[in-house]
Amino acid sequence: MLVLNGPNLNMLGKRQPEIYGRETLADIEAACRAEAKALDLSLDFFQSNHEGALVERIQHARETNSGIIINAGAYTHTSVALLDALNAAEKPVIEVHLSNIYKREAFRHHSYISPVAVGVICGFGSQGYLLALRAMARLVSR
Ligand code: DQA
Repeated sequence: MLVLNGPNLNMLGKRQPEIYGRETLADIEAACRAEAKALDLSLDFFQSNHEGALVERIQHARETNSGIIINAGAYTHTSVALLDALNAAEKPVIEVHLSNIYKREAFRHHSYISPVAVGVICGFGSQGYLLALRAMARLVSR
């Protein structure tokens, strides 16, 4: 399983904690690793601020991962390249956002990722990643 994080998510804990919470990305990674272990899933966890690095990691996932959980950060709202990469990966995708993007600015209401996602989890903070891992465990065991 690949958990992929886009731009500025390395700043979690410091970045607008009233929106994104006080947990760091390292805290979220540790929680994901514990959940993955309980679900008997192997886990790769990756963050980049660069669109091309995210595209390359998704291309690699086609060969190495059974599914992709992605919080693409702001690229969610801008990136046709990530949509194309996810389509080419031919793996189940779950889109995650810490905040409820539909409660926020209008430019966050559109996602280029959603058309390729099995489902979207947003508004539950870091718990969203754990919910996504649980949903993914079911998807890949079918
Ligand atoms: C986010 C929501 C995006 O709109 C924003 O650009 C982010 C984080 C979230 O997790 O709530 O960087 O994906």
